[in-house]
Amino acid sequence: SLAPVAAGPLAGRTVVVTAGGTREPLDPVRYLGNRSSGKQGVALALEAAAAGAQVHLIAGVMDIQAPVEQPNLSVERIETADQLQAAVLTAAEDADVLLMAAAVADFKPADYAAAKIKKTDDGASPVITLQRNPDILADTVQRRAQQHRGPKVIVGFAAETGDASTDPLELAQQKLARKGCELLVLNKVGENLVFGQDTTEIYILAADHVQQKLGETQAEHVAGSKQEAAAAVVARAAQLLRS
Ligand code: CTP
Ligand code: CA
Repeated sequence: SLAPVAAGPLAGRTVVVTAGGTREPLDPVRYLGNRSSGKQGVALALEAAAAGAQVHLIAGVMDIQAPVEQPNLSVERIETADQLQAAVLTAAEDADVLLMAAAVADFKPADYAAAKIKKTDDGASPVITLQRNPDILADTVQRRAQQHRGPKVIVGFAAETGDASTDPLELAQQKLARKGCELLVLNKVGENLVFGQDTTEIYILAADHVQQKLGETQAEHVAGSKQEAAAAVVARAAQLLRS
């Protein structure tokens, strides 16, 4: 018998989702990591699959299990930002949507010590020099412009606390413009907020070029479960694809 043809707002579309955190090795037993749980990314992958898309989930280090692979959901595991970059480069080429929910380390140790770093008798502490990791999101946007192919809808994710002088929404607006992607999903973070939780509060911001096309200016606000937030993001991406 024939496999059922996927129905839903993303039927026939390919969606790449990145989730979780990266881990940057320092020596064979140590790494620099972050507190991303992977929950938002996994929720996005499941929502996109439920919307009928062919989904490729690129997952870093997560607190939760990766979803079980299905005919329309494949899972690839990575650890470092460099590995994530290589995986996104390959997967994004033929994708319609890229949802960049992974927490990518901005820096990695400049030198990997092949042998475990040991304490020394003089009581001195080692100095760890860092170097910048590639900006995978910004690079993907740039490559799309150069090669005239790649995802039509690229979505960035940012967790911002803001500070005394700057509102998180303002920071997110600036980040959206800097990255050049279509949408930016902002998580307002404070103590105990967002990381590892099942609920979240997001704002979906649209880039100027998207707003001009759709004639809208307001950031969409969603408070609820990470699954509800994911559904709103996926719906937005589907709407943009159709536009
Ligand atoms: N991102 C990425 N590559 C990086 C860092 C971030 O692709 N090296 C992506 C993230 O996956 C996310 C978006 O960029 O979708 C925003 O991440 P964020 O850390 O908020 O942005 P940065 O440009 O790193 O800014 P900041 O200095 O505030 O961390
Ligand atoms: Ca960062």
